[in-house]
Amino acid sequence: MKKIFITGALGQIGSELTVKLRNIYGADNVIATDIRKNDSEAALSGPFEVVDVTDTKTMIEMAKKYQADTIIHMAALLSATAEKNPVFAWNLNMGGLMNALEAARELNCKFFTPSSIGAFGPTTPKDNTPQDTIQRPTTMYGVNKVAGELLADYYNYKFGVDTRGLRFPGLISYVTPPGGGTTDYAVEIYYEAIKNKRYTSYIDKGTYMDMMYMPDALNAIVDLMEADPSKLKHRNSFNVTAMSFDPEEIAAEIRKHIPEFEMSYSVDPARQQIADSWPNSIDATAAKEEWGFKAEYDLAKMTKDMLEKLSK
Ligand code: SER
Repeated sequence: MKKIFITGALGQIGSELTVKLRNIYGADNVIATDIRKNDSEAALSGPFEVVDVTDTKTMIEMAKKYQADTIIHMAALLSATAEKNPVFAWNLNMGGLMNALEAARELNCKFFTPSSIGAFGPTTPKDNTPQDTIQRPTTMYGVNKVAGELLADYYNYKFGVDTRGLRFPGLISYVTPPGGGTTDYAVEIYYEAIKNKRYTSYIDKGTYMDMMYMPDALNAIVDLMEADPSKLKHRNSFNVTAMSFDPEEIAAEIRKHIPEFEMSYSVDPARQQIADSWPNSIDATAAKEEWGFKAEYDLAKMTKDMLEKLSK
């Protein structure tokens, strides 16, 4: 990776990934793009362009202008937002991906885009979900993610594009908050714990989902992109995870640092339904074996770090 072009660079993952890649590969070699600019570090610490990923012409022109050799396509709607506006979600998530893949094909770029635990559905085995298994998601987000995994495989098989991807679990970070995801509760809970010492969860107790701390997610992207391609059998759909917990377990962990912390519940049926259709915990063996995936943070280590960082 020498000239890296990122879409959705100001989003939940993109904003931290952009800064990390600039530190590794040089600020001028990482081109951040998003639908609008803001005054975040990702927007100001190197080249930035306004790019609407549904606009094929601009996307390809911009990637050409900077002679990108790598495209990291992050622009997408998350699960709960996509469920509110499925047609818009299809157009953005699939249209954007198609344009990014076309740009990668034309410029012969390496390519990354994230998939998700949302690519699984109610008929998927729920515990220790295998790498290769039933994928019949019941959300528009999940439909987009499965189609995206297949499309990225197709661009590799048909056109030889070096496509790669990860099925991320819920990602937790103290930098840029997520917007419109089902797993967002596990981020909000830390902000509320610091501010108000209480949190009302829209996800019910007993609902287990996979999660990962952002530093592990960023390392996983870099490690996968730098991995020897001859070792990759599952290019676009590696299960990765660091922990699985329900709201009660994360609350109990927070109480070790803030004993007065109180948890209550007001379940949101829409997001609960999405969560219930996803696995409890997924198996990341293929990622470990094919490119050495490893997560540093478990629930205890992440909670300590989140509370320390957010308290500042
Ligand atoms: N964090 C995402 C969501 O909840 C899952 O990939 O939509």
